[in-house]
Amino acid sequence: MGAVMFVQLLCTVLVVVNLCNGVTAAGRPRHIVFIVADDLGWNDIGFHNPDMITPNIDKLAREGLILNQSYVQPLCSPSRSAFMSGYYPFKTGLQHMVILNYQPVCLPLNITILPQKLKELGYATHIVGKWHNGFCSWNCTPTYRGFDSFFGYYNAQEDYYTHMTAGFLDYRNNTSPEKTENGTYSTFRFTDVATNIIQRHDKSQPLFLYLPFQAVHAPIEVPAQYEAMYPNIKTEDRRKFCGMVSALDEAVGNITKTLTDSGLMNDTLILFTADNGGWITEHGNNYPLRGGKFTVYEGGTRAVAFMYGSGLQKTGTVFDGLIHAVDWLPTLTAAAGGTPVSDRDGFNLWPSLSSGSSSPRTEVVYNYDSHTLPTEGHAAIRVGDYKLIDGYPGLYTDWYKPEQVTSDLNLTNIKDWATKYQLFNLKDDPTEHNDLSTSHPDIVKQLAARLAWYEKQAVPPNYPLLPDPKSNPQLYGNVWSPGWC
Ligand SMILES: *[C@@H]1O[C@H](CO)[C@@H](O)[C@H](O)[C@H]1NC(C)=O
Ligand SMILES: *[C@@H]1O[C@H](CO)[C@@H](O)[C@H](O)[C@H]1NC(C)=O
Ligand SMILES: *[C@@H]1O[C@H](CO)[C@@H](O)[C@H](O)[C@H]1NC(C)=O
Ligand SMILES: *[C@@H]1O[C@H](CO)[C@@H](O)[C@H](O)[C@H]1NC(C)=O
Ligand SMILES: *[C@@H]1O[C@H](CO)[C@@H](O)[C@H](O)[C@H]1NC(C)=O
Ligand SMILES: *[C@@H]1O[C@H](CO)[C@@H](O)[C@H](O)[C@H]1NC(C)=O
Ligand SMILES: *[C@@H]1O[C@H](CO)[C@@H](O)[C@H](O)[C@H]1NC(C)=O
Repeated sequence: MGAVMFVQLLCTVLVVVNLCNGVTAAGRPRHIVFIVADDLGWNDIGFHNPDMITPNIDKLAREGLILNQSYVQPLCSPSRSAFMSGYYPFKTGLQHMVILNYQPVCLPLNITILPQKLKELGYATHIVGKWHNGFCSWNCTPTYRGFDSFFGYYNAQEDYYTHMTAGFLDYRNNTSPEKTENGTYSTFRFTDVATNIIQRHDKSQPLFLYLPFQAVHAPIEVPAQYEAMYPNIKTEDRRKFCGMVSALDEAVGNITKTLTDSGLMNDTLILFTADNGGWITEHGNNYPLRGGKFTVYEGGTRAVAFMYGSGLQKTGTVFDGLIHAVDWLPTLTAAAGGTPVSDRDGFNLWPSLSSGSSSPRTEVVYNYDSHTLPTEGHAAIRVGDYKLIDGYPGLYTDWYKPEQVTSDLNLTNIKDWATKYQLFNLKDDPTEHNDLSTSHPDIVKQLAARLAWYEKQAVPPNYPLLPDPKSNPQLYGNVWSPGWC
């Protein structure tokens, strides 16, 4: 609190713009609510697709800043590690697939992560929802890494009602297993926990609330009233999926209402982002973008995203500058009034976002993964308007319509992709229809050289193939638990 009060005082006296970034016009500290929607596709939200019923989210997006070129990794834990650390996953060993229940892997412990940064600035820090940055040691888990409280689960996915995955419970209140909520849909529970945190919060302290919802990741489960909102959708699972999105929208509505009722909203900055594109076989949709979750095509990596609230000067507009998941640690730290973070892959975009000016970012590395198991897109880079994909782009290589049911995984033709480059001009061709690699060999060469420069900085993937027997939940009262690395 000392630092914040000092900055406030300085702001009142001096109006030094850079130092005042962390406080609101009224001189109060800025609260930050960071919402992540799991596997939400580009075409799964009202402000991109009028068939989706998401009035609360659409209102915030339209009255805030729609982030139209905001990139993430093609998969969950890599994106979450980037949000938390500001490093590309190929620098932390998390570039291959996701952290699995039985792998002794977590986001490296020598990295100071976002909640720790904000804690240093006097913030109260809470996480409600999915962690997925590793849990094999207590030191890997949220309350040992800068969060004052944790309510949620550690792994990639689970049942929305039983909170079980692979046969065992994964649900906690701080460090204690939460065994009394079998049957409560997680979107309701997480909303409840989040609104309680907001209501109990002492307004004089800045609040950081990280809300990585379970929704709308598989399994496809939703209370009937939300499914009933989409009578025109014939495909049952897509209908349910859309219901899951609308339940999430109601959750966002309840949370913003609570922020308003509690008098925090005027001083709150909200960031909303998907962690990757929609998962095609699980009824997520990214049309007209190509591909989906698991691919380095735009459908897997260009996130639904917006910002709303405190500090944004050009509201009701679209921010077209390049953004990558690694930018959020430096950006939110700056929005909180911290000294600029420059030792990460991320840029501090707060000056750009708050004033609506151009982004300093000109390049995005979609992924770099030299691992030999090609089950996801492994290497791609964007420089300016051009994008180069080196080799296999990932499981889904087509353009999928919302009710298209797709179950086949494109593993058969991996070999054909292996030695192939694809080049796209995303400004002219955001849907990646026209491969320019043959007509523009010079640009291919240039971008390949840039990718090779990044490759030199990559560490090997930390991806043990064999399950660690010490991870067995039966050793910990039938609950997925830390203590085995
Ligand atoms: C956002 O990007 C898409 C895809 O490139 C484009 O079609 C759309 O016009 C952009 N939206 C705005 C409002 O700029
Ligand atoms: C963390 O440790 C790894 C392995 O020793 C090292 O390569 C990396 O540079 C360290 N990172 C930081 C941020 O200290
Ligand atoms: C939750 O309830 C279901 C039956 O409804 C049961 O199969 C499951 O074991 C229960 N889970 C836990 C963790 O108690
Ligand atoms: C977590 O447990 C603490 C201590 O028992 C309790 O006070 C708190 O209400 C619980 N939190 C939630 C979200 O259930
Ligand atoms: C939102 O709040 C209303 C009114 O309290 C409640 O009925 C509803 O279940 C809540 N929705 C979610 C998703 O938590
Ligand atoms: C929030 O801002 C609005 C518009 O400036 C103002 O009318 C309202 O009183 C403010 N609310 C609080 C709690 O500060
Ligand atoms: C798999 O790839 C082939 C050729 O590249 C394509 O025709 C087919 O539609 C793809 N299937 C899927 C599910 O993406």
